[in-house]
Amino acid sequence: MSLASPKFTRPSLSHSTSDLTHDAVPLQHIDEPTVPSAQLSIKNVTKVFQGKQDLFSKLSRKTSRDFTAIEDITLDIEPNTFVSIIGPSGCGKSTLLNMIAGLSDISSGEIFLNNQPIKGPGPDRGMVFQNYALMPWMSVEENIRFAVETVYPKMPPKQLTRIIKENIQLVGLTGAEKKHPHELSGGMRQRVGIARALAINPQILLMDEPFGALDALTRGFLQSEVERIWEQQRKTVIMITHSIEEALLLSDRIVMMTKGPAAQVNEILEVPFPRPRNRETIDQHPAYHSLKTEMERHLFRETQAVEAARIR
Ligand SMILES: Nc1ncnc2c1ncn2[C@@H]1O[C@H](COP(=O)(O)OP(=O)(O)O)[C@@H](O)[C@H]1O
Ligand SMILES: [Mg+2]
Repeated sequence: MSLASPKFTRPSLSHSTSDLTHDAVPLQHIDEPTVPSAQLSIKNVTKVFQGKQDLFSKLSRKTSRDFTAIEDITLDIEPNTFVSIIGPSGCGKSTLLNMIAGLSDISSGEIFLNNQPIKGPGPDRGMVFQNYALMPWMSVEENIRFAVETVYPKMPPKQLTRIIKENIQLVGLTGAEKKHPHELSGGMRQRVGIARALAINPQILLMDEPFGALDALTRGFLQSEVERIWEQQRKTVIMITHSIEEALLLSDRIVMMTKGPAAQVNEILEVPFPRPRNRETIDQHPAYHSLKTEMERHLFRETQAVEAARIR
């Protein structure tokens, strides 16, 4: 397996016009090519943050130039895959994820979910934030209830209660339903964050450094929990992480981004380890160490380039 070439490329879906207008063949008899369509398709996406040039900024000498965070990223994500995005700090990982979530405008290019362009946030995408983003005045149960009711206001109460219960159980929080976020550890809060995102039954789960604020032990424990949950549900996941080990434990594919500005996808690694995966034994797989080295080299090279650019 060559690790150097991106693995997300898929054959073109375009037909020539003559194929579709062939006189002798009725349209319904034309065989569509059996190309698996990507669930999420990022096409030539660029994000430019507009600089401030208004009069107030000029007077306060705080004008800034336009800043191209990411440039011309193209990436296809297949259904039921766990994809991690890794790259140096500030390269644009959150920017990309926020555009997929519909929380941030796309400057040019397009992102398609099931062939429909993304225009804003939607219940088809669930988001898990690094800082949990729970409502502090609501209990575990109320936080999840609020999210589901917002997305499905007409859901019958019995179904709503069942969904809340199931998702609390899924993340191992049964018994803590009435607790408020301040009564929970960081790990438990993120379990609520995950349950809340899954309770709306999104097609794609988006996670922005979900374990970034947790201590190493809790982090490891929650990673294993996510692996277990993923085994049960096999939802498409896109997760940003800084951790090479975390990416290797959880992912089917790892997207490595270059440094910014104008960050791009440098390489996509296929992770061939069988599932279910076990953090204790995963490093015995023959490909583990070469993948890890490849990622370490990439991150080191890009981070070094960031530092060099700062010094210049
Ligand atoms: N709202 C914004 N306005 C201007 N620049 C921004 C904004 N948000 C992010 N950036 C810049 O875009 C780049 C990418 O940011 P981000 O996506 O948060 O990086 P990452 O998540 O990879 O650490 C950074 O240089 C950051 O300073
Ligand atoms: Mg970020």
